Amino acid sequence: MFLSKNTWKKKPSACDDRVECPPPSCLVWNGGSVLVQVRGGLPAVRVNVLLCLALVVCIQPVLAASPPVHTASPTDRDVMVLVAYYSASGNTEAMAHAVAEGARSVPGTRVRVERVEQVMAETLFSADAVVIGSPVYWANMAGPVKTFFDNWQLKFGIWPDLKLRDTVGAVFTTGGQVAGGQTVTMLTMLAAMLGNQMIVVSGGGPLGASAVTEGDSPGLDDQELATARALGVRVADVTRVVRRGQMNQDMRETGGVR
Ligand SMILES: Cc1cc2nc3c(=O)[nH]c(=O)nc-3n(C[C@H](O)[C@H](O)[C@H](O)COP(=O)(O)O)c2cc1C
Repeated sequence: MFLSKNTWKKKPSACDDRVECPPPSCLVWNGGSVLVQVRGGLPAVRVNVLLCLALVVCIQPVLAASPPVHTASPTDRDVMVLVAYYSASGNTEAMAHAVAEGARSVPGTRVRVERVEQVMAETLFSADAVVIGSPVYWANMAGPVKTFFDNWQLKFGIWPDLKLRDTVGAVFTTGGQVAGGQTVTMLTMLAAMLGNQMIVVSGGGPLGASAVTEGDSPGLDDQELATARALGVRVADVTRVVRRGQMNQDMRETGGVR
């Protein structure tokens, strides 16, 4: 028996053959109880509203104590974060995995880690967030990372559709020296993302996560890896907020029908 909102009818008495009930059934308010009249001769079922209220009061504390359950539905799917990086000697790669670890720690987030040379158009364009890491080469991003950005158009044809528009973007870097060009490296990567109308976020540091790997530095340390994890967490958090906003916008545009 399916009782839609529209089947509610306030009547002085129960449904019978003289008072037409909307098929297949109807509900009638009758003092402190609800009478459910099933069309087709089945006996009427009297549901005491007070009993229902008592039941709700009893189970409410149990429901309140239950941990929140993340349920995935077609409109509330996991967000996909792509972490793409270039690395010749392993430092930026280690940062990439720390970013991924941070993002994965946010419930409802799936993460894919790939070298920039391996990223396919489908992976890139289906991501909800793209985080890109580069070593500092001559105070700028490394050549393979620049080639990756260039290929967004040359190989993947990102324009004129702006296929990464409103995708969340963030960056990280490692450089040999203190002030060796990390800032420029991150800013030039962020600029490429802005040029594609991505939603750029920072985290872990003012522009993203960064580390110093040579000279007096013992290499990547725990604090630098922690900045990378923090970036991952922030990217995942912001991406979930953005996606929820996009879902609400879709709902408004379709009048609630998806
Ligand atoms: C070609 C080349 C250029 C570099 N230029 C710089 C630079 O301008 N500033 C800097 O701080 N480090 C520079 N480095 C050092 C790297 O940025 C640093 O070792 C980085 O952590 C390497 O990352 P990876 O281990 O992921 O390859 C350069 C290294 C190479 C190979």
